[in-house]
Amino acid sequence: MATTVLRVNQDLASAVREAEERYAKANPRSAEYFAAAGHAMPGGNTRTTIHFSPFPLCMSKGEAGRLTDVDGHSYADFVNEYSAGLFGHSNPVILDAVRSAAADGIAFGAPNRFEAQLAAEVTRRFASMDRVRFCNSGTEATLLALSTARAMTGRPKIMAFEGAYHGSLLNFDRGGSPLNASFPVVVSTYNDLECARADIYEHAASLAAVIVEPLQGGAGAIPGERGFLEGLRAACDECGVLLIFDEVMTSRLSPAGLQGVLNIRPDLTTLGKYLAGGLTIGAFGGRSDIMARFDPVAPNAWPHGGTFNNNVLAMAAGHAALAKVLTAETLESMNSQGDRLRHRLNDLARRYDLPMQVTGAGSLFGIHFHHGQIRNVGDLRRGETGRESAIRLLKALFHLDMLAQGQYLSRRILANLSLETTEADLDDLCVAVEEFLASRGALIREAVSAPE
Ligand SMILES: Cc1ncc(COP(=O)(O)O)c(C=O)c1O
Repeated sequence: MATTVLRVNQDLASAVREAEERYAKANPRSAEYFAAAGHAMPGGNTRTTIHFSPFPLCMSKGEAGRLTDVDGHSYADFVNEYSAGLFGHSNPVILDAVRSAAADGIAFGAPNRFEAQLAAEVTRRFASMDRVRFCNSGTEATLLALSTARAMTGRPKIMAFEGAYHGSLLNFDRGGSPLNASFPVVVSTYNDLECARADIYEHAASLAAVIVEPLQGGAGAIPGERGFLEGLRAACDECGVLLIFDEVMTSRLSPAGLQGVLNIRPDLTTLGKYLAGGLTIGAFGGRSDIMARFDPVAPNAWPHGGTFNNNVLAMAAGHAALAKVLTAETLESMNSQGDRLRHRLNDLARRYDLPMQVTGAGSLFGIHFHHGQIRNVGDLRRGETGRESAIRLLKALFHLDMLAQGQYLSRRILANLSLETTEADLDDLCVAVEEFLASRGALIREAVSAPE
C-alpha cells in the first residue's frame, strides 16, 4: 500500500478515527467479506485473536514472507500465524510433503508412516521429552499436560502465572476467562520467585503442577528470568509438584527450545504452532515414567483418543519441516535477525526519546508504549492505570499506520519473524516505525504516563 502522509497536531481519538476512515476506504472488499461473515458467525468471527476494528483484513494469498489481501494490497508478514508460520507461506519442501501425502489419501484411522518419524524428531531435539503424544492444538496440549499431571500426582490444583496464555480454555489474563477449564487454579506472579515459591509451598499438598511459559508470549513477549525459572524447578522438586514448560510458542528459540538454552529440564513440555510446518498440531510429552501411562497395553493405561491426533498431512508436513528445513543454522539465523531488529527498534525509541520499548527474545517480539522495566504484566498494568483507553487507542493507531505502510502486525503488537523474513523486510519495518515515532510523537507522549 502506498505510504500515506500522516497528520500531526491531532488528538488521539480523532487520529484513530481518521486512520480508520482511511483504512475502510482502502479495503472495501475486506469490509464486504466481514459483513457477509456476520450472517453465520457471531461478529463475523471464529477466532477472537484475529479480530480488530473496524474490521480485519481478509487475506487471499501468502507467498514466502508476504501476504496479499482481497483488495490486492501486499504486506510483509510479521504476524506469521502467531508464530505457527515459521516456515513462511510457500516452503517448497513442506508443500511437496503435503502434496505427496495427500496423493496417498488423507484419513486412514490407523497408524501412518509419518507419526513415529515426527515423534523421533521431537524427542531427539527436546532432551526432557522422553516420549511424546500428538493432538490438534496448543490448547489441547496444555489441557492434556495439566490433566496428566493431576492424574499422575492425584492432586487437583494447578498453578499458572498472571497474564499467561496457555490456550483458549486456559487464559490467565486480567483475572482469567469465564470459558476457562474448571481446574482449581492458583495464579502467581511471573518473574517473582519469592511470591511463586510461597504459593507453591502454601498449596503443595494439593498442587499437581506449575505451568509456565519460559517467555510469556501472549502477555507481550516478556522473557522469564533464568533465576525465576530455575527457582521454580527447585521449588517443584522440593514439593513433589510437576513442572510443565509451555513451549508452544518459545520452542522456536533454539533447536532444543528455550529449555535447551536455559538448561532446565521440565517434567512435561507442550508444543504446537510451527511443529507441523504450519498445519494443525499440538504435542505434549516428557518423563518416560509419566508418558508410559499412555501405553495402551500398560496396566491402568490412561486413554487419550483424538480423531486427528496423527492426521496424515500434519504428520508428513511436520516431519519434513523438522527433518529437512529447520536446521540449527536456519533457526539461529532467524533468531539473531530478531535480536538485531529489537535492538534497532529500541534504538529508534531512544533516539526519538519516546516511551516505546520492544521486548522478547530471538524471533519473538512485543512492542509496548511504556516507561520503565517490564518483568510481568503487573508492570504493564501499573503503567497503564487510568490510561487504559489512551493506550488502546495508541495501539490501534500504530497498527493502522503500520498496515497503511504494508506492515502486517497484530493489534496487540505481538510479532515474530519467519524463515522468509528478509533484511529488506526489517529495514522497511524500521522505516515505518520511525515514521510513526516522528509523526505521532506528541500523541505517544500524551498517552503514556510519565514515571513517578
Ligand atoms: C504459550 C501458548 N500456549 C498455548 C497456546 C494455544 O495454542 P492453540 O492456539 O494452538 O490452541 C498458545 C497460542 O497462542 C500459546 O502461545
